Order: sequence, then structure tokens, then C-alpha cells
Amino acid sequence: MNTIVTDVIQKLISGHRLSIEEFKVLIDNNCEELRRELALKADSLRKNIFGNHIYIRGLIEFTNHCKNNCYYCGIRAGNGNIVRYRLSKEDILDCCKQGYSLGFRTFVLQGGEDSYYDDDRMEEIVSAIHSSFPDCAITLSLGERSYDSYLRLYKAGAERYLLREETSNEAHYKKLHPESMSFSNRMECLENLKEIGYQTGCGFMVGSPFQTTENIAQDLAFIQDFKPHMVGIGPYITHADTPFANMQNGTLEDTLLLISILRLINPRLLIPATTSLGTIHPLGREMGIKAGANVVMPNLSPISVRKKYMLYDNKICTGDESAECITCINTRMESIGYKVITDRGDFPFK
Ligand code: 5AD
Ligand code: FES
Repeated sequence: MNTIVTDVIQKLISGHRLSIEEFKVLIDNNCEELRRELALKADSLRKNIFGNHIYIRGLIEFTNHCKNNCYYCGIRAGNGNIVRYRLSKEDILDCCKQGYSLGFRTFVLQGGEDSYYDDDRMEEIVSAIHSSFPDCAITLSLGERSYDSYLRLYKAGAERYLLREETSNEAHYKKLHPESMSFSNRMECLENLKEIGYQTGCGFMVGSPFQTTENIAQDLAFIQDFKPHMVGIGPYITHADTPFANMQNGTLEDTLLLISILRLINPRLLIPATTSLGTIHPLGREMGIKAGANVVMPNLSPISVRKKYMLYDNKICTGDESAECITCINTRMESIGYKVITDRGDFPFK
């Protein structure tokens, strides 16, 4: 590695902060040696705070209806080739019950932007989970909603919210989304979530269509400033029934490098080894953990709906029992020297 790269590495390790130009140096020089060096550092920083503990979140994909038409996403409104479904409050509570008995203490309710789940319905669902499982954390991932809606759901017992910015460059955002979607509203939602008090997660797809090195560097700079509690990144993977069907997938190598950089930006971050990482490589999630991730989100959705929540082609874990899924994750984590922990796994404040 040349001295420019080693200087940037030193600066990131000592100051946990880089300029956009410096991030670009790392991304442009991605190679095995660089990944190994950053992963070693990221892993040791994470061990100082989290030991070898990996947190699990039970993902409940409760609706694949979506009013949006993001060009990359398999459940976009314009995809007429999928069977749509919605889970009832009772279905969702059943998932939580099963998850609870398997050791899950965080439930992530994720869905498309589905107006059926208005504030009344969503509040009822969140309150029901909160009163039935008071020792569990509720995470929502429902896309863009109003400030008042976020506030109501927070008061009902949801404490965490995941909303990926997808890209922090407005011109790039416009290439990934139709006119009807607004970059400034996405950013405002993220600000609102944080202001209300949610543990907030953002993130982006690695290698999404038209993404440049500059765009990725801008995302890292955004994350430095926004200071989220969680960051979810995973490779972009094509879906045959989208306008981006013929685009290229993001790579394992870029995702792993970026996970290590995120850990170095903030040693306390909650970073999932995502399902998309496990989809582009059979050991992708294990490699993600070794690069610095510390969360996995096994699927708790009913088996009957899993294949209908296809954000991208060939998504893994769409056929298993949730019991098998958690056993599989436990074994996978143990095989690389980590241990799945069944507590809520809150962001570690100083
Ligand atoms: N490939 C990878 N990730 C995707 N997502 C949506 N579509 C795809 C795809 N084709 C991600 C988005 C969204 C999250 C729920 O899934 O980043 O925020
Ligand atoms: Fe679902 Fe391994 S995590 S089968």
C-alpha cells in the first residue's frame, strides 16, 4: 500500500473521521491487504466494546404492499408479478411469541409503504407488542411518515427506527427513485426520527446503479455527521421484475471494506451483517461479522409469506422454520468465534 493510503488509515484509526477525498482514497484502493488491515482494527475496536457478542433482531416482514416505485426494489408498486399480502395484528403477535420463545428480545417490523397501516392501526399493533412483551425492543422500518406519526408510534412503545437514506447525493437519489419521491423529505424524516428520540438507523446499498466512489464517500461523510445508532449496508442485488433488472450487483469486497470503515468511524455502531450480504456469498454474513458487523437479523416472518417479500432475486432464508434459522445463525457465529446474545442489544451510550 502506498503512503497516501497508510496515512489515511492512520488518520481514520486515530481520529475516527475523514474528509470525502480521504474516504475516496480508501474506496479507490480497495484490495485484500487493505481490507485485512481495516478488518483487524475494526474487529479489535468492536471487541473492546461488545466483546465477541452478536445481537439478533427478529425480522417480521408484515406487508409487501408498497405505494412507492423505487427502481431497484422487487416489491415496488409497479411490479405486477408478485402476490401481495398483509399480516394481521394477531399474525404479528404470533411471530413475536414464537420469536420470544427462541430468545429474541428485539422485533423489527418491516414493510413497504402501505397506507392500510395508518396511524391508528400501527399504534394498535405497536401497543399490543409492547404490552405483551414489555422486556423487548420494538424497531420499525415503515419508510417515510409524518413527524406526528413517528411521535405517536414512539409513544406507543417503538424505540428504534430503520430508514435507509439509500444515497446522500440528491442527483443519485433521483436516478434511483421516481419523481414522486423526494430526497429532502427522506432527510427530514431521518432528522425527525432522531429528534423524537428513536435509536435511528440509516444506510445504503453498496454498488447501487449509477453509484460513484464519490457517492459512497458522501454517504460515509453523511453518517459521520448524522451520527446514527445503526447503519445497514448490503450489496445491491438485481431483481428481474424491476427497471434495473440488467444492472450489475454490488460486490462482497466493497461491502466488507465499508463495514470496516463504518466500525472505525464509530466503534459503538450497531452494524448488521445483512441478508443481502448472505445472498451474494454463502458465507457473506460471517465475513461481514469478521469485518466489523455485530448484528444479524434472522427472518421471523411466517414461512408462507417469505417468498413474497423478495426485494431482490435469490434472497436467502425464505424457506426455513424460524427455529432452524436461529440454530443456523448460532452455529454460523460460533464457527467464527462469536456468540449470539439474546438481550435487547441497545446502542451502548458512554
Ligand atoms: N438489492 C439490495 N437491497 C435492496 N433493498 C431494496 N431493494 C434492494 C435490492 N434490489 C434494500 C433497500 C431498503 C431495504 C429494506 O432493502 O436499501 O431500504
Ligand atoms: Fe435463515 Fe440461516 S439464517 S437459514
